[in-house]
Parts: sequence; structure tokens; C-alpha cells
Amino acid sequence: MAALFNELKIKDVSFRNRIAVAPMCQYSSDNGFPNDWHFVHLGSRAVGGAGLVVVEATAVSAEGRISPADSGIYLDEHVEPFGRIASFLKQHGAVAGIQIAHAGRKASANKPWEGDNHIDSDKGGWDTIAPSAVAFGANLPKVPQAMSVQDISRIREAFVLAAQRSLAAGFELLELHFAHGYLAHEFYSPLANKRTDQYGGSFENRIRFMMETMEAVRKVWPERLPLIARLSVTDWDEGGVTVEESIELVKRLKAAGLDLVDVSQGFVTPDISKIPWGPGFMVPIASRIRKEADIPVAVGWMISEADQAEQIVGQESIDLVMLARELLRDPYWPYHAAVKLGDPKADTILPVQYARAVRAR
Ligand SMILES: Cc1cc2nc3c(=O)[nH]c(=O)nc-3n(C[C@H](O)[C@H](O)[C@H](O)COP(=O)(O)O)c2cc1C
Repeated sequence: MAALFNELKIKDVSFRNRIAVAPMCQYSSDNGFPNDWHFVHLGSRAVGGAGLVVVEATAVSAEGRISPADSGIYLDEHVEPFGRIASFLKQHGAVAGIQIAHAGRKASANKPWEGDNHIDSDKGGWDTIAPSAVAFGANLPKVPQAMSVQDISRIREAFVLAAQRSLAAGFELLELHFAHGYLAHEFYSPLANKRTDQYGGSFENRIRFMMETMEAVRKVWPERLPLIARLSVTDWDEGGVTVEESIELVKRLKAAGLDLVDVSQGFVTPDISKIPWGPGFMVPIASRIRKEADIPVAVGWMISEADQAEQIVGQESIDLVMLARELLRDPYWPYHAAVKLGDPKADTILPVQYARAVRAR
């Protein structure tokens, strides 16, 4: 039996294995609505055997979308089409998760394959908001409006409403997107947060937005279901957030009811030259956080081989591996990994419609 195929239980939710489909923006929505593309994209990865499928960064408000084609859960009408997807994921044995997000100063951009840059105001671009009136730079030069305390309350409430809609749609796991240089990370990082009020400056002040949002969401997201957060635990840059302070943040989020931390990194500034790219480069940091903050962890980045994932779960005790690009290459990666690792689950991963025919090969 491979460790990768051991069940995991968090709260009342059981995961059939340790393989998660990381959230991946598809830039394929109109006014936030998921459609057939999302149904097939997400559904086929549940059919392929993943234990958890997390829907892409889904905006809590229209202005919080990275692009006009982002998915969103800011209208009650979004619940029904997301419900169809969540139901299919569960029917095929995956835990149905969704990541809710606000893009902050990185909002109002073109799709990656249409420039990945801020949209001009006369071409449908919109005003962006962020902790401070400081632009990201590079391809995203628009200067955001610094948020008032009222704006902060409004966005916190938007996260709460998005959580309630996610629950109504049937999702069983909620991920708060606190990473990758989007709004929450912009509050956390001194590289983006230049505020002098209670939301900026000291560590306590920079984490206030995340803590308040997390606490407000936990009140409406049932105790029996996992609430997790994706964090950029380091900015890899002088003056940015460090792993040490992120460990303290994770301890506080855990005390406020966080069930698992999805360990990620970077992207609050355009400079990615200091990221130590390499297979599984975030794994040692995730292991350290798991040990020092005593909380289950998920980790991704450059995990692509079955043996590698097996070692990460079996020897490093990582609770979940989050795969993105490799699962785009092969939606059946979990099935193929079970075959490679010789796990008996290889015989039961595929749906009945396929299993007999494939075994008969
Ligand atoms: C097409 C694409 C879209 C992505 N969208 C998101 C997203 O919506 N939310 C997020 O937190 N990360 C997003 N990411 C990052 C992935 O979730 C993942 O963390 C990253 O790609 C590293 O994993 P990998 O090396 O397995 O690809 C995206 C990555 C890709 C390739």
C-alpha cells in the first residue's frame, strides 16, 4: 500500500487519497458563471482519481476578479451552476473544494493569453483596490485605491457571503486565497502594505485582515467541514514576509479554527528571480510549518512523479500534495500513479464505465 493512497480525514470529511487538484484559473467565465468548460475540466480530474478537487480562485466580488473571465461567487445565481459541478465531483469520489479570492491590485487584467496586463480604462478595465495606493508594477502598473476601513469591512463581508454560497452549492472544503500577491497577501506583506492605521505596520496589524476574514468565515462555515487557507509563506525578498513570521501566523490561524494550511509562496512583486525553483522545492518549508505550527499541511510546486509524491507523503508526512500543471498534462495522473506504485487501489480508481475495459487490456 502506498502512503499516497492512504485515506485522510479532516473534520467529518474523508479524502480517498492524498492527491489534490490545485486551484487553477481557467479565464473562461462570463460574469463569474462557471460553464461546461469548468464542468469538464474539474469533472474529468475527479474521474481521474484525485482525492480533492479545488475550484479555481473564485472572486468574492466583481472588482476582485483578476480578469473579466474569472469565475465568481458574488451572486446568488452563481450557486446553481457551481452546485452542478460540486455534485458531479462528489459522485465520482472526490472531495469538492473551492478557493475564494479577491485579487486586490492585480485585478482588472487581460487573460494570460491576451496579454496578462492591466486592461485600459476605455477597454473595460476597472478601478482596483488594495491596502495601499502602490502599484504591483511590470505588466500590472495600475495604481490601486487605498482601501478605507469601510472597504475592508465590505470585502470581509463579501468573503462571508461567498462562503455561504459555497456551502449552499454543496462544497465540502473551503480554501481562503491568502497567497500569490492578491488582496490578503497584499495586507500581509510590507512590500505592498504601507498603511499607518490598524491594518498596517506591525505584524499584528498586517495579519489583521486575514485574521478577521478567517474568523468571520469560520462563523458561517460549519465546524464539521474543513476550512483551509493558501498562504505565501515567504516573499523571497528583503523586507518581505518570512517563513518564521508565517509560522506564527499559521499558529494564530489554527487557534482561530483553521484546519489545514496550503503552503505556497511568492508573487507579491514581479521579481521572481530569487525563487529557488526545483522539484518539490517547497516541501522542506511545508514540513517545517507542519512540525512547528502543529497543523496538517498541503504543498505543491513542481511535484510531478509518482515516486516523488509517495516520498513527500510517506517520508515527509505531508498530508496532501497539490498538483497543478502535471494534472493538466494528465487528468488520470492519480490512476497512473497507483499503477506505478503498485497500489491495489489502481483497480478501483477508474469509474465502472472504464474500469473493466481498461483491466481487460
Ligand atoms: C493555469 C494555472 C492557473 C492557476 N490558478 C491558480 C488559482 O486560481 N489559485 C491559486 O492559488 N493558484 C493558481 N495557480 C498555481 C497552482 O495552483 C500551483 O500552485 C502552481 O502551478 C504550482 O504547482 P505545479 O508546479 O504543480 O504547477 C495556477 C497555476 C496554473 C498553471
